[in-house]
Order: sequence, then C-alpha cells, then structure tokens
Amino acid sequence: MSGTTEDKVTLDEVVALCKRRGFIFQSSEIYGGLGSTYDYGHYGVLLKNNVKAEWWREVVQERDDMVALDAAILMHPRVWEASGHLEGFTDPLVQCLGKCKKRWREDHVREQQLGGEDAEGEIRCPECGGELSEPRQFNLMFETHMGPTKESGSEIYLRPETAQGIFVNFKNVLQFARKKPPFGIAQIGKAFRNEITPGNFIFRTREFEQMEIEFFVTPDDAPEWHKRWMDERMRWYTELGIREDHLRLREHGPDELSHYSSATSDIEYLFPMGFSELEGIANRGDFDLRQHAKFSGEKLEYVDSASGDRYVPHVIEPSAGADRAMLAFMVDAYDREEVEGRERVVLRLHPRLAPVKVAVLPLVNKDGQPEKAREIYEALRGRMPAEYDTGGSIGKRYRRQDEIGTPWGVTVDHQTMEDDTVTLRDRDSLEQTRIAVAELAGELERRLAEPWSSPKPR
Ligand code: GAP
Repeated sequence: MSGTTEDKVTLDEVVALCKRRGFIFQSSEIYGGLGSTYDYGHYGVLLKNNVKAEWWREVVQERDDMVALDAAILMHPRVWEASGHLEGFTDPLVQCLGKCKKRWREDHVREQQLGGEDAEGEIRCPECGGELSEPRQFNLMFETHMGPTKESGSEIYLRPETAQGIFVNFKNVLQFARKKPPFGIAQIGKAFRNEITPGNFIFRTREFEQMEIEFFVTPDDAPEWHKRWMDERMRWYTELGIREDHLRLREHGPDELSHYSSATSDIEYLFPMGFSELEGIANRGDFDLRQHAKFSGEKLEYVDSASGDRYVPHVIEPSAGADRAMLAFMVDAYDREEVEGRERVVLRLHPRLAPVKVAVLPLVNKDGQPEKAREIYEALRGRMPAEYDTGGSIGKRYRRQDEIGTPWGVTVDHQTMEDDTVTLRDRDSLEQTRIAVAELAGELERRLAEPWSSPKPR
C-alpha cells in the first residue's frame, strides 16, 4: 500500500515546501528581498527552536561539566585584533572582467572548474565565461559605527562567530561557575558574515545562528577530548534521526586549517549539492586565551588551588550552525511516496524535532465532533505542541500535517461520541489504532520518549 520512493531530494523541493507551509520566507520580500537573508515563519521557528533545545539539552542540561553563556553581539574592537579576524578573516575575491562583472570566491571557482581549491590553471567567470581579475583578500566582517558620528575610531563589528564572546568571559565564568578543566561554556547566538557567494538556501547566509562550545582541558588531554567530542557530536545527529550513511567525518588537511587550529574535523552531511560541512570540531590549543591575555593584559589561566599549578587551558571547539542543522534535518526527513494511487509528501522528522507533535481533527464538522475535538486538543496542548484543524476534507488536513512533519494525528468520529475513543494515526507507518481519550496524552508522551530512527532507505 505504501512505500518510500527513491531517496533523491532536491533543494528546490525543500525550498518549495518551506514556502508552501510557511517555514521560511525571503527577508524583506515585498521590497524584492535582501540577498541571502531569511525570515522564519511559524513552523520554521518551532523547528529551529527544537533543534536548539535538543542541542541545549544534550550539551548543557545532561552534563555537569558545561555552563551557559549569552554574550553581546557587539564587542570591543580589540577582540577582533586579538582573535586574528581583523587581519585574517578573509576570503579570496575575484571579479568578472567580462560582461557580467559578478564577484566570486576564487577558491570555490577553482574547486568547481579545476577540482581543487588550490588547483593551478586558468579559471573563468562561472556566469558568462569572462576573464577574472587577480584575487584580493576580502574581510567578511560587517563593520558599523558605535555612537552618533561615523568618525574614525568608532568602528565596531557584528561578530562573525559567537566563540570570542566565550573566550573574553573565561575569567568571569571561572570565578563564578566553580568549575575546573575539563569544563566547557556553551552558547547559542547570531553571527554575521559578509559572504561573497552565499547560497543554497539557508546553508550559507549572511546572518545565521551558531551553537558553539569552547571546552577547556589540560594541554595533555586535548587530543583525547578532541576525539571524544567528534564521537559525541556525530551521535547527536544520528540519535535525532539523521541516517548514518548520510554523515561523515572529514579531517582538514594542513593547508585548510584556520589560523588558530592545530587539528579540525568537519562533520559533513550529504546535502543535495554533495557532502558539505555541518559542524566543525577544532582543537584550538591555547591560541585564543593567550591572544586575549596579551591584548587585554589580564591573566587568563587556571590555577589549581590544591597544588598551586598554573596553566593556560587548551580548547576543543565543537561549532555548529543552527540553520544548517535545521536544513540537514529537513533534507533527511523529506520524503514522497504513493499511497493508494496518490503522492504524499511527508517530513519524517524525529518526533522530538517535529514542530507540532499531534493534530486533533474532527472527521466531520457536525454532530458535536468539532467541540469534542477541541476539548481533546485543549487538554493536550499544555503537555505538548498540538494543533486543532477543521478546515477542508480529512485527507487534505492530513496531507498538511504530513508536510509539516506532525508524527501523530487524532481523529474524532461518530464512535468517539459513543465510547470516548479516538483513532491515533502514525505519520510514518500510516497505522491507525483505537485508543481511549483518557489514555491519549500518556501514550503520546511514551512515544515521544522512545528512540526513533528514520524509515527512509539507508
Ligand atoms: N568558531 C568557529 C567557527 O565559527 P566555522 O566553521 O566558520 O567555525 C561553524 O563555523 C559553523 O557555523 C559551520 O559548521 C556552519 O554550520 C555554521 N556557519 C558558518 N558560516 C555560515 C553561514 N554563512 N551560513 C550559515 N551557517 C554558517
């Protein structure tokens, strides 16, 4: 009766679903849109909140070696001198000298046309085939001014990563959190990059959210903790339903490493455009704390009160993008299948990620069924995100819920009015079971707490 079709999801299909169901809109759409910035609608907000909540639960709530932080986006400009961003946070920019005059990232064009970011050989404009200019280094930080005048010396930057807010608070946290290495600081927040070639929907945008951890360890333990964090972070994605063979860990080559890193591995997901970075896990050594100590004049080290030993901790940094993770979860969940001769599009999201957990639908709009359904919905919504829907045929209402990834549907029918039972429909198997209204909330909570894996083909 039903069966998943071949697993080839295009980005266009996911973009269309996001638009159709109000997950994501182009920013400032009525003015023609602003390049690569997006607004999140109702289901987009709920889904991204669930991604962030699952990260928070895993890395803060369920550990006792992590504390939370929410640092300001605007920081002292010296931070970016110390971190190396002012000098080194650049991409090589080339401009078309032919017809279209478009700007490109040289390394991306080399990769596309010659098979490697550093491959030697001639490259041409990907749009019009024109000649390209010599590359120049372009700084990705957005600059603005603090105060009422744009005078020299008032320049500040929108942070291009949340990480630096953590390093500059190392001393504060150490003082108040009563932690000693190994311990970490976790933060979720907006970051901004004036990307030369953003694209692939919310994969690379100019404004995005990061979920970052800086984990402070003794220098000797850094390699072991680096490995541990790679395993932990891979597990997080698979436990939330991403199919294992659509994920891989890729170690950076020496020429690819950032200025601060001695070793980095990326968790990559098989997006429709190929395996691409989802999260970076770097061993940053003591680079950041030493730099900030040098530029601020503060001592940024750990002193063991028992032994008197003092040292600058090394840092392991698992750094993920909330929007990029959301895109990966959506791509991995997107499915179409034929059910009784009709195509159904369904988001097979992990129930904990699903924006809405249960939809309560009266079969018909009469005979007391809408009132009964509303009563069940009102009892459920205090315990989990729920929806009540009376608009259109039951089939149409279920198609809508399938597309937003609602794992369970409750139908109120004529039998409900006689024996206080409802049918409970499972999004993935389409199985329908009869259950007493009194047992419904408990049964849904039991299902929500169960492990879940994707029914899509490996
Ligand atoms: N603090 C380290 C750091 O920022 P990064 O690899 O530049 O490292 C970490 O960024 C993560 O942030 C990436 O793996 C990606 O998920 C997300 N990210 C980076 N740039 C992004 C962009 N322009 N749009 C959306 N997400 C982005």
